[in-house]
Amino acid sequence: MRLDKLLSNTGYGTRKEVRQLLKKGMIRVNGAVIKDPALHVDPAKDTITLLGEDVVYKEFVYLMMHKPPGVISATEDKYDRTVIDLLGSEERHFQPFPVGRLDKDTEGLLLLTNDGQLAHHLLSPKKEVPKIYFAKVSGQVTEEDVNEFAKGVILDDGYETKPGDLKILQSGDVSEIELTITEGKFHQVKRMFESVGKKVVYLKRLTMGPLILDKQLKLGEYRELTDEELSELQKLDSTKQKG
Ligand code: URA
Repeated sequence: MRLDKLLSNTGYGTRKEVRQLLKKGMIRVNGAVIKDPALHVDPAKDTITLLGEDVVYKEFVYLMMHKPPGVISATEDKYDRTVIDLLGSEERHFQPFPVGRLDKDTEGLLLLTNDGQLAHHLLSPKKEVPKIYFAKVSGQVTEEDVNEFAKGVILDDGYETKPGDLKILQSGDVSEIELTITEGKFHQVKRMFESVGKKVVYLKRLTMGPLILDKQLKLGEYRELTDEELSELQKLDSTKQKG
């Protein structure tokens, strides 16, 4: 990889800015000052330093966000703030995107990455990645609903969902539930409840596959995945596809 590309990808500025660093003799490769931006380097083998500090090459970023309500799960939007607007420039530089969508009014766990392959695996219907949602539902959620969800329900467009595991935490005028589903159709949780004549009034995603929303993250906050979380996610790449 070209030296200027590596430095720019790692967050040291645009290619133009990086060339200035090189020109000023601030970059060394394996101990020697290098001014040629086109020099080919191997990040796995070569030691690259900026004013004596090691340059650690990173191609991908993986962020867990506690999505707040009122922002859109998209990279840009004409009218609304997006989850990308909540990131600092250091993270934005990697051009991450949200893996799947949460509705504007939905809160909770959202993964952002620029690793297209990992995103693809997580979103692939064949992988049946389980997602757990907490919801407040207006109206009494009943054992009958639990049974209906376990069989799969028919949505307003005629689609029959895969089985959902519905747990009633509290039943009342406004019920509290947890629902595990393995697919991600548009407005799926809300539409599943509509199919049994009920309305979701609050929705929060708690988990996605092996990822569990970090309780330390306040609404709108995010952090990088730990090595452990990432390696659990990467196992999805190698797990056998179903069907
Ligand atoms: N289901 C919904 O209805 N909305 C979401 O944001 C996520 C799942």
